Amino acid sequence: MGAERKWMVTLFSATFLSLFLLLVFSISAFSSPKTLPSIILRGPHHPPAFAYYISGGRGQKDRILRLLLAVYHPRNRYLLHLGKEASDDERNKLAAAVEAVPAIRSFGNVDVVGNPDPFTYMGSTNIAATLRAAAILLKVDSGWDWFITLSAFDYPLITQDDLSHVFSSVSRDLNFIDHTSDLGWKEHQRIQPIVVDPGIYLARRTQIFQATEKRPTPEAFKVFTGSPWVMLSRPFLEFCVFGWDNLPRTLLMYFNNVMLSQEAYFHSVICNSPEFKNTTVNSDLRFMIWDNPPKMDPLFLNSSDYDQMVQSGAAFARQFKKDDPVLDMVDAHILKRGPSRAAPGPWCTGRKGWLMDPCSQWGDINVLKPGPQAKKLEDSIMNLVDDMKSQLNQCK
Ligand SMILES: *[C@@H]1O[C@H](CO)[C@@H](O)[C@H](O)[C@H]1NC(C)=O
Ligand SMILES: *[C@@H]1O[C@H](CO)[C@@H](O)[C@H](O)[C@H]1NC(C)=O
Repeated sequence: MGAERKWMVTLFSATFLSLFLLLVFSISAFSSPKTLPSIILRGPHHPPAFAYYISGGRGQKDRILRLLLAVYHPRNRYLLHLGKEASDDERNKLAAAVEAVPAIRSFGNVDVVGNPDPFTYMGSTNIAATLRAAAILLKVDSGWDWFITLSAFDYPLITQDDLSHVFSSVSRDLNFIDHTSDLGWKEHQRIQPIVVDPGIYLARRTQIFQATEKRPTPEAFKVFTGSPWVMLSRPFLEFCVFGWDNLPRTLLMYFNNVMLSQEAYFHSVICNSPEFKNTTVNSDLRFMIWDNPPKMDPLFLNSSDYDQMVQSGAAFARQFKKDDPVLDMVDAHILKRGPSRAAPGPWCTGRKGWLMDPCSQWGDINVLKPGPQAKKLEDSIMNLVDDMKSQLNQCK
């Protein structure tokens, strides 16, 4: 693990703190405390597990921590990335806050990128950061089934038990990616312009710049665009990261000079590869509301949108203002999550109290107890998968 230390913040060992907490819990809980990780069962005969990549920028550590706790489950894996413009101090504080959660410390399934990358929103450094996250998650954990990208502005509409339960009956080869080859105005305004992302070679990140000349739309492959938010299968990410076929690398070189390439890279790779194009499900599983005409980002959601949002059958929603009251509604009604605590599930066996976090003790972490939101997600996934089987909406 020596080499890994260099590229990840080594989370504080906090031996003293753990001993102290252990002591406190042994005294406060009269039932025998169970603080050692229970065995994690993963693989094709067990419910699926998810690898989350959560990214954000300067001043977003508290949002990232809240989102992490809302999607936390010991069977999953998490990588948090505060971009290069955030300070090391903020990054260290995030790592310390993560490490202070007893279950996370014990299961060791959350990492914070210690040597951050720049990501220019309009430029290609975004794809580089996502591919790197996928590579790290593939390397550190061989047991997850799907890779999910989230930003600090997102929040779940389901519990992890709901997600794992619903995806238990979904083929693990499937990729949930919103896509189309109908480029419309984007062909002229997004695909043909040649842009350069200075985040790649200048120490101080600035805006992308655009060449005066345009280039023709590619004919060696077909360009697809769609939502930048994806849920991708492990086999497809291995294809993208390991690069035994040249397609993912060739397209990466091409998309280096395309504006907002995160809205086209994975979409174009998957739809141009014969072995993966029949694995696409045309949805990003997110709930968003767009202005008319749409702006760059969807509208901020608030409590007026709560009912529509939870009825939508989406797994996640975006975007939210920091600590908007609607997030407290999701915590109270869906996640049953207390402030600064992980969303509880049947794995949490501690007593519930204002001083005691039920998830500071745990039992069998492989038992799932889906809640009321699972049915809505299940209905929408079953519709999407049926739609996929007709192939009318796949890579078209
Ligand atoms: C996609 O097609 C390949 C053969 O090209 C096949 O092996 C695979 O099972 C198919 N996958 C799905 C999800 O239909
Ligand atoms: C929610 O946002 C919309 C605009 O997007 C606004 O019209 C509405 O009043 C807001 N509702 C609340 C409860 O703040």
